[in-house]
Parts: sequence; structure tokens; C-alpha cells
Amino acid sequence: KTCILIGAPIDAGQRRPGCLMGPAAYRVAGLAQTLCDLGHGVQDRGDVEVTLALDATCANPAVHSLPEVVGMANALREATDAALETGFPIIMGGDHSLALGSVAGAAKHAADKGKPLFLLWLDAHSDFHTPLTTTSGNLHGTPVAYIIGRDGFDAFGAFPAPVPPENICLFGIRSVDPAEHAALLIHDLEINDMRVLDEYGIVKPLRDFLDKVVAAGGMLHVSLDVDFLDPSVAPAVGTTVPGGTTIREAHLVMELLHESGLVTSLDLVELNPFLDERGRTARLMVDLVASLMGRKVFDRPTRSFG
Ligand code: ARG
Ligand code: MN
Ligand code: MN
Ligand code: MN
Repeated sequence: KTCILIGAPIDAGQRRPGCLMGPAAYRVAGLAQTLCDLGHGVQDRGDVEVTLALDATCANPAVHSLPEVVGMANALREATDAALETGFPIIMGGDHSLALGSVAGAAKHAADKGKPLFLLWLDAHSDFHTPLTTTSGNLHGTPVAYIIGRDGFDAFGAFPAPVPPENICLFGIRSVDPAEHAALLIHDLEINDMRVLDEYGIVKPLRDFLDKVVAAGGMLHVSLDVDFLDPSVAPAVGTTVPGGTTIREAHLVMELLHESGLVTSLDLVELNPFLDERGRTARLMVDLVASLMGRKVFDRPTRSFG
């Protein structure tokens, strides 16, 4: 399968400058070469070209940078859908608002192929605000609400083929705002917060979700937010939340995803290279992609015990 790299340099979905440099950092950290070394074809399509949606408006005055975020969403919806025709899109962000476009493209593509889309959201946050409920005004906190088809996203246009909440798995979350919490109680998303992962570990909750994807014959989009990881191992992100996953847990997620063979598209989001320490977070993200794409310590059937 050809990996198609798509740069999405946007930091307008939040307030701390720097995510704009994310795609450049992944290139410097050797993402393309790493994928080549694993035997994959690689095509870097460069950074998407964005046309600002200058007429976009929102009733909530807290919301900022709508023309930039809508513009990027429009561009990525097309780019992701197109890339899925021939390969495996890897969207190099950019803050998480880019998922307003990448997942829309994946949803459109899946609907055209008559397949259900599933979504694995690896994040400290639920990102379940709408533009009308956000108090920060930061649109990176909204994509999951758009993806299930909640109201308030007029500026983005109707979501193509909304994803049923049951097809969405939030994994690793530990920071949820009150309005998001209230909304999560009335929509049936699969929520594996850190409480669940502490008790059951990574394997059972993830396998359980992947079994559903297999049973439905679905496509699977994975959205990996840097803050899924603990800030002690991944400092290059603006929205750190303590108590995140370890390097080993994150690799295990990626290895299980690889073994499942189910993943059809991937976002890498929220990397802020300006906050990094000698590139360690960018390199860790590249290593995680490597695990997702088949890198193993030993290439032999997984040992089983008991
Ligand atoms: N819930 C908070 C907000 O709306 C934080 C969102 C963080 N999202 C992210 N993609 N890092 O501002
Ligand atoms: Mn996020
Ligand atoms: Mn298509
Ligand atoms: Mn987050």
C-alpha cells in the first residue's frame, strides 16, 4: 500500500502558535524514509493549499479563525478522499481542527464505497464541543461533534455521511469540559477514558472496538493527538494533560492496530515543534507511525502465554 503524506500546516484551531511547523518537523524527523525502510511506497503530496473562507460566520463570538479553519477543512476533505482512492493517507498536522476536514473526506469516501466508517480518537480530550458550546473558542476542540452530525457547524457545510456515535471510540481521555460531558451522556460513543485503561489495560478495550470494525466490514480512521501521550515523554504540545499513556502503551496500541490490518487513514495532530526538546516528540510520533505500519522488534508470530 502506498502511504500518501499530506501536510496540513494549521495552528488557527487554537491559540498557541507553532503547530504550523508540524508537517516540516515530520519531514525533518524522517517520516517518509521510515516508511520506505518498512517496505512501503511513499508519496509526499506536499502541504495542502488553503483558500480562506472569508464569508464564514458563527453566532458564538468566542469562536476565532473560522475562515482559516473552514478553508483547511475544505482542502483536506478533498485531499483525503482523493488519497484514499490509491493509498493510505497520513495527514501531518497541524492542530486537531484539521480533523474537521480529514474525517469528512474519509466519511465521504467510505459512503461512496458503501462501507461504514469507524473512528479511533487517541487523545487526552474528547473534542466534543460544537462552535456554539465552546468557551475557549478554539475549534480544535470540536471535530468529534461535527463527525457525528451535531448542530452548530453551518460554516463547514453538512458533514458527509455522519458517523454513528457507536462507531466512535474515544481512547485515553482525561480532560472533558462540562458542556462536552453533558453531550457525551446523551450520545452513545464508546468512551475508554484513562480510568478504563488503568483498570483493563490497552488490549481488551482496543480489541473489543476492533472486533466491531471487523464484524461490520468497516474502514477505520485513526486520529492521534500528541497529548494522548504523557507530557513527560511528549512535551511538544500546547494542551498537555498529566496522566497520559506511556511510550510502551502507545506502541502497543499501534502494534495491535497493525496486526488488525483495519486502519485505512491516519491523522497526526497537535505537534508543536516550537515546544519540543531536540526533536524527541517528533521522533516519538514517527516511531509510533512505524509501529502502526509494521515495525516489530522480532518478526515472528506473537508469543502467547497460558
Ligand atoms: N476542551 C478544551 C477546549 O475546548 C481543550 C480542547 C483541546 N483539544 C485538542 N485537540 N487538543 O478548549
Ligand atoms: Mn484533540
Ligand atoms: Mn472517494
Ligand atoms: Mn488533545
